[in-house]
Amino acid sequence: MKNEAINPTGSFKDRMAAVAVSRALADGHDGLLVVSSGNMGSAVATYSARARLPATVVVSSNACPDRVAQFRLAGAKVVTLDGPDPVKMVAAAQLARSEGLLNVTAPFNPFAPEGVRTVGYEIWTEFGELPDWVVVPVGYGSLVTGLFGAFQDIVATGASRNMPRLAAVQSTGSPSLVRAFERGLEAATPGPADSVCSGINQEVTIASVQVLRALRASRGTAVAVPDADILAALELLAWTEGILVEPTGAAAIAGLSALRRDGVIGPGEVVVTVLTGTGIRGKTWGRRPEISGTE
Ligand SMILES: Cc1ncc(COP(=O)(O)O)c(C=O)c1O
Repeated sequence: MKNEAINPTGSFKDRMAAVAVSRALADGHDGLLVVSSGNMGSAVATYSARARLPATVVVSSNACPDRVAQFRLAGAKVVTLDGPDPVKMVAAAQLARSEGLLNVTAPFNPFAPEGVRTVGYEIWTEFGELPDWVVVPVGYGSLVTGLFGAFQDIVATGASRNMPRLAAVQSTGSPSLVRAFERGLEAATPGPADSVCSGINQEVTIASVQVLRALRASRGTAVAVPDADILAALELLAWTEGILVEPTGAAAIAGLSALRRDGVIGPGEVVVTVLTGTGIRGKTWGRRPEISGTE
């Protein structure tokens, strides 16, 4: 398990924020803008504060108030914008242009997903090899495309001959990417967004073309699992490893179980899952296990 919950703001999005802030400083931007009501907002607000750069975080009106308070605490300006993701993205890009801000909303800003490549490099350096499979949740798609880029870099240098097969996990409540993969489509079409996993609860994976290409090029797969299985995986992680993740952070574990059950991943294969976000800041999920015998 590659535990990204231990990053400074609690998710793999810190990787993107670090690169994005460096880029904004190097290019002399007046600040940064990001569309996010969640982890990317926390990462960009916090990393911008550290660099003394103004940040604007564009949120939905139903954003969690504690999160928004966190963005403000880091000094970010919060702008509320509602509507479908693609429409919001265009409006946010216009706002960024008019105010001289670097729009670091992944996956449109190439510098932001670049930071995710470091997760791939670390899997290789910490593990000593590239595994047979890497299983990750997919929302907008920057994690999959970043990892694929990193593994291509490593294989291209000859340092490893093993290109990991990428498995993308979604909830059955928001399965746009999985549906497109299974139907052999080149792009995902919008569908329901009805999952408790906020990081992957999108109507459509915005970088679906690139994600589908990466999955197919790596001889990988895509799988949707019910929220109930993801929450069970969250509990399992807490009880057996002492790692507290948010629901999206447990999706890869639930996806791995499904792929092992279905025989897609074999018993002897080496698998790395990415635990993408911490469960420390939010609602506590799950229940206490039944304890039999003496306590
Ligand atoms: C904790 C967590 N995991 C996974 C994802 C999905 O990553 P991506 O949007 O790069 O596909 C997100 C996105 O917000 C997230 O917050």
